Amino acid sequence: MPHRRLVHLALILLSTALVACGSTQQTPPGSASGAKKFRIGMSQANNAEPWRTAMNAQIAAAAAQHPEIDITFTDAKQNNAQQVTDVEQFISSGVDLLIISPNEATPLTNVVAKAYDKGIPVIVLDRKVNGDKYTLWIGADNKLIGRKAGEYVATWCKEQKHAPCSVIELRGLEGSTPALERGDGFREGIAANPDVKIIASQNADWVYDKAVPLAEAMLKANVAVDVIYGHNDPMGEAAITAAKNITRDLSKTLVLGIDALPTPDGGIQSVLTNRINVTYVYPTGGTQAIEWAVKILETKATPPKEIVLETEEVTNANAAAIYQKYGGK
Ligand code: FRU
Repeated sequence: MPHRRLVHLALILLSTALVACGSTQQTPPGSASGAKKFRIGMSQANNAEPWRTAMNAQIAAAAAQHPEIDITFTDAKQNNAQQVTDVEQFISSGVDLLIISPNEATPLTNVVAKAYDKGIPVIVLDRKVNGDKYTLWIGADNKLIGRKAGEYVATWCKEQKHAPCSVIELRGLEGSTPALERGDGFREGIAANPDVKIIASQNADWVYDKAVPLAEAMLKANVAVDVIYGHNDPMGEAAITAAKNITRDLSKTLVLGIDALPTPDGGIQSVLTNRINVTYVYPTGGTQAIEWAVKILETKATPPKEIVLETEEVTNANAAAIYQKYGGK
């Protein structure tokens, strides 16, 4: 029918004109079509470690509650230059907000400041940058965690009547702030007992595979080791593997770690199976980062400069309850 054909033709012409004009349809946030209103870049220092996988999973799960958010993750693989490039790309692609867990503080400070100076809100997670050119930092108090670990050791050594009480320390990546803070806090904590001596300290960059040979060498070089302090659980586990490799009995040695992931191979289970003796909950802050990102983007809220997350000491006495509390499966 000529009339219907005409209407058809008019519709085709109209839609062609709209496409030619580059017209896009604005769908309200959260609508079924899933229109993305806000773009967030998440720059991760390293995806390979379980704690970082947990952080990314929490961020992704929280973001999935907000269909208006489009989030892109990058993995710098513990390489500062790569992470600078990742952030540069987020800046030039025009993200609405940046979340970053920086590999090391100093090399990442300028690029974070660049994003902030351009008016991009920046949420820094866990490890810090220098200065104050970021919007919000979220993380746990690493100095406090280190101090609690040190105090635990001071008391344990006294109770065990170890004098001297010899400690070996496996440290995190030197330029990352938690390594410094966990090391400094620990030294404050052990000061309560002058018999506690750190007899060897090595940097294993937070990484299990690097920590195994280092711990082997440290154990071989020191016949009497009463305490092993790993700045994270993977390095504590590495020391246990190292001891096994050289058939060294650790049954009378206190092993401490940090992270306490509520996963089958995480620190809480390690405490429950009497491998690591003490660990500390180190929340990733992933959920809080998205909650704040949404508030900043959608309600123009001004966040506090810092949000300090709670930690908990995990020993055999409370490990089962803590595993449940943090949703362990
Ligand atoms: C993972 C990790 C954690 C540690 C945190 C410190 O990369 O090493 O095990 O608690 O980073 O930033």
